[in-house]
Amino acid sequence: MSSLKSFLNHPYSFWAFLSLPAIPMIAGLASGNPETVDAILYPSGEFAARFMIVSLMITPLMMLFIGWRGPRWLMKRRRYIGVAAFLYAALHTVLYLIDEGAIALTVREISKFYIWTGWLAFLIFVPLAVTSSDAWVRRLGKKWKPLQRFVYGAAVLTLLHWAATRDWGGLVPAMVNYAPLAMLVAYRFWYNFERRRQRAAA
Ligand code: HEM
Repeated sequence: MSSLKSFLNHPYSFWAFLSLPAIPMIAGLASGNPETVDAILYPSGEFAARFMIVSLMITPLMMLFIGWRGPRWLMKRRRYIGVAAFLYAALHTVLYLIDEGAIALTVREISKFYIWTGWLAFLIFVPLAVTSSDAWVRRLGKKWKPLQRFVYGAAVLTLLHWAATRDWGGLVPAMVNYAPLAMLVAYRFWYNFERRRQRAAA
């Protein structure tokens, strides 16, 4: 029983779990069918966004379920989830570059709202992923947390990017995926506001 528990708690098992959505994507790419590049663009973007959303939900979940094991278990693995979000976003970007070829780098393409919001979100992701190792956490010290807060900017840009795809046909799926995070962020604001109010009254 305890060996099953330590197997499930091992970082490699968690990485294997985070990699599951990539298996059909890689199998599709390995098939060599050129149409799969376009088909995989969508799920890779979705999983990048979803893992980012989950990583942002953990702190407010800890506040909501004080003392519960689940959010604490996730908190210990939050960095892995963030890195997975970046890796799916990197795959998504590579697929887009393969799919569009030279057009991807033209002013006409980059000036499209849903394209530049995607690029900006991705550019924010890069330094966050690079500095996610223990060595960087130590090296940056107190500066690490404020840097990681840029993920909120990436989250807003990704929401806009997703919503604006398919001529704003992405609006509803984007809102559905972001709804749990939006509710938890609202709860977090209320929680902090109430704590400050109670401290001031005491
Ligand atoms: C390098 C920058 C990026 C570019 C150029 C890009 C490009 C694209 C393109 C071309 C589509 C398909 C749109 C359509 O056919 O209507 C798309 C969809 C999408 N992208 Fe990106 N993207 C980028 C970054 C990101 C990032 C960083 C995320 C998430 C963190 C993301 C999440 C999504 C999502 C969720 C969709 C919609 C998928 C669906 O409709 O099922 N993208 N992106």
